[in-house]
Amino acid sequence: MEEQSKKVIFSGIQPSGNLTIGNYLGALKNWVKLQDEYDCYYCVVDLHAITVKQEPKDLRRRTLEILAIYIAAGIDPEKNTMFIQSHVSAHSEASWLLTCNSYVGELSRMTQYKDKSSKYGNSTSISAGLLNYPVLMAADILLYQTDLVPVGLDQKQHLELARNIAERFNNAYSPTFKIPDPYIPKEGSKIMDLQEPLKKMSKSSDNPNSYILLMDPPEVIKKKISRAVTDSLGIVKYSDEQPGVKNLMTILNTLTGETFEDIEKKYEGQGYAKFKEDVGIAIVNELEPIQNKVKKLLEDKEYLEKIYKAGAEKASYVANKTLRKMQKKIGFIPVAR
Ligand code: AMP
Ligand code: TRP
Repeated sequence: MEEQSKKVIFSGIQPSGNLTIGNYLGALKNWVKLQDEYDCYYCVVDLHAITVKQEPKDLRRRTLEILAIYIAAGIDPEKNTMFIQSHVSAHSEASWLLTCNSYVGELSRMTQYKDKSSKYGNSTSISAGLLNYPVLMAADILLYQTDLVPVGLDQKQHLELARNIAERFNNAYSPTFKIPDPYIPKEGSKIMDLQEPLKKMSKSSDNPNSYILLMDPPEVIKKKISRAVTDSLGIVKYSDEQPGVKNLMTILNTLTGETFEDIEKKYEGQGYAKFKEDVGIAIVNELEPIQNKVKKLLEDKEYLEKIYKAGAEKASYVANKTLRKMQKKIGFIPVAR
């Protein structure tokens, strides 16, 4: 009974590359905080990952690794539903139904589509999946009658689209979907690239010094932070004029809870060396225990399998209920039983 009254959370991460500290601070760390208050569905969105080419064996490895990271980061498998997107076929099915209620115009206006497709040159080599991707994301969310979607800032536009698609469907037929709200953290919603701090940190960057991976060894983390681009002012100050320093301060703040004022005072008159060293240490302190747990979990494939199997069963039950409603309203004849 209690479960029913809890509000619903849905979120996911793509197994399209190794996770960065941006994914962790912008999304995952908040999922952990929300798990007691909400009925949470945390998904490894493998269907999303294939919008760009994936090596099958890497995709398999990363999918399990992300599930292990969810658990190691503190998401309790007893309390939450964790599953692999392709195990719940309702996502693909609902996505088609919603695709027919979406417009090419609105999809091609998405910033992420414009960025990613410009990398691939002319439209003959851009997969249609890249364009349709936000519809699949809408299906993910709407199938669970989700109240809240914890994501980083880059997903805000996709979430607005999901709301529009839901409202359009509700108006065209009759109320079917709950309209979800974004949950974007105040700090950490956009961790920046360590080499080009005006750009978002991304796992798809070509320069490994521009990101910290969740699984980077401690020495590598410390080295990358010591090489992070700052400026020649030599003052630890939270200011738009110092994007590199601002980003490192944000990382420190989200990890240790120290306020920007405290950080400014602590490093006054000291240049950047000690500050960077402490940022490196804070990241290592947070990530090292998680990394150790991930390694242990990956040795126990049976345990992981148990979790994603139970997760897919629970998720399928809920998702299929919404899918049936959609099919019925659209005018499909129910499957004879
Ligand atoms: P993705 O890696 O694109 O599947 O993203 C997974 C989650 O991490 C989403 O909620 C993103 O908004 C979030 N995210 C990705 N990169 C960053 C970043 N640099 N800063 C904060 N959040 C991020
Ligand atoms: N599109 C998201 C990203 O790239 C991942 C994602 C897929 C997602 N489906 C979702 C996030 C549903 C939240 C809810 O970051």
